[in-house]
Amino acid sequence: MYSSLHEKFASDPILAHVPSFHGFSHSGDSKFIALGNLLEGFHNPRVMDVKIGTRTYQEKEALSSKPRPDLFERMVAAFPDKLTHAEMEAKAITKHKWMQTRDKHSTIGSLGYRIDGAAGYCRSSKAELDTKFKKVASQNDAVEAFGELADECVEDAAVKHCRTDKSRIARGLLTRLQSLRAAVERSEFVANHEFIGTSILLVADEKGKTGAYWIDFAKTEALQEGTSISHRKEWEPGNHEDGILLGLDNLIAAWTEVLRTADVACNRKLPDEMLCTLSENTDPMDNVQTPTSHGPEYFKDGASPLNQKPSKLKGGYATSPKSNPLLESVYAGC
Ligand SMILES: Nc1ncnc2c1ncn2[C@@H]1O[C@H](COP(=O)(O)OP(=O)(O)O)[C@@H](O)[C@H]1O
Ligand SMILES: [Mg+2]
Repeated sequence: MYSSLHEKFASDPILAHVPSFHGFSHSGDSKFIALGNLLEGFHNPRVMDVKIGTRTYQEKEALSSKPRPDLFERMVAAFPDKLTHAEMEAKAITKHKWMQTRDKHSTIGSLGYRIDGAAGYCRSSKAELDTKFKKVASQNDAVEAFGELADECVEDAAVKHCRTDKSRIARGLLTRLQSLRAAVERSEFVANHEFIGTSILLVADEKGKTGAYWIDFAKTEALQEGTSISHRKEWEPGNHEDGILLGLDNLIAAWTEVLRTADVACNRKLPDEMLCTLSENTDPMDNVQTPTSHGPEYFKDGASPLNQKPSKLKGGYATSPKSNPLLESVYAGC
């Protein structure tokens, strides 16, 4: 997908918001893609991986009717009340049933985004963060988690006598997310593709530097000719809607709220252009959109990016923020 994006859409506005692409390399039977390191230039970055879209599985994955006893067991453990009588008798469910139920019960189904992980934090362990993010069930919960990302940078800045405050981090990330959404809305590449399982990588550091990048195109596919999607409407089998713009809208509304509360805390007023997503009533739920009913190189295995083992190649490979060797060294350095 990266090579297609860089070759066929060479002047697309989205290119400014994705990692640079440096070709392919091979090691034994494995194939890797070399990407620009998005963390270059940051000092002790905190990163958060936020999956976007209202669905985490491709349409073709929803078609299989193969009975899955293993997923039945997971369903019994996680959502026993969602099993039908027939499924209880068969002691099996389809992969689609499992994925649809799981998506519905996280913010991905309702808000079009989900906090998947974070790294670089000094005050919380990976286990604590994972437990916390699993409990994020609403826009309010997410606003709190995003605020903590900014707090992490500010507390570090205070220790090191840097002049970074929470508003600066929130304003930086909000501006970058708004610019990313504007590029997505203008992009021909986006108009021609369905995006499943992509993430926004939020990065911020103790000096107040921020970044919001679009990553992980392993499950991105070109739409068939004649198919066009809004990226905001609700998915129905066959319509290919992915909800990525709905997710970005809600992510922007959440960060607008983080900025508003940070500014209230230090008695500042939001600039008018940033108030566009806020109404008079500032309950974060008011801005939530729901689906309508209709440098050093960073290597990544290109073959099957999910469930990968770290590569021995220069720069390393990450399957999750905390498994990224770069990020672990950040974590260890705190
Ligand atoms: N270009 C990059 N530069 C720096 N870190 C990256 C880059 N791409 C991915 N990462 C890190 O690796 C993590 C996982 O990457 P991702 O592409 O989502 O793979 P997967 O989800 O398949 O493991 C991200 O959350 C991010 O922390
Ligand atoms: Mg990913």
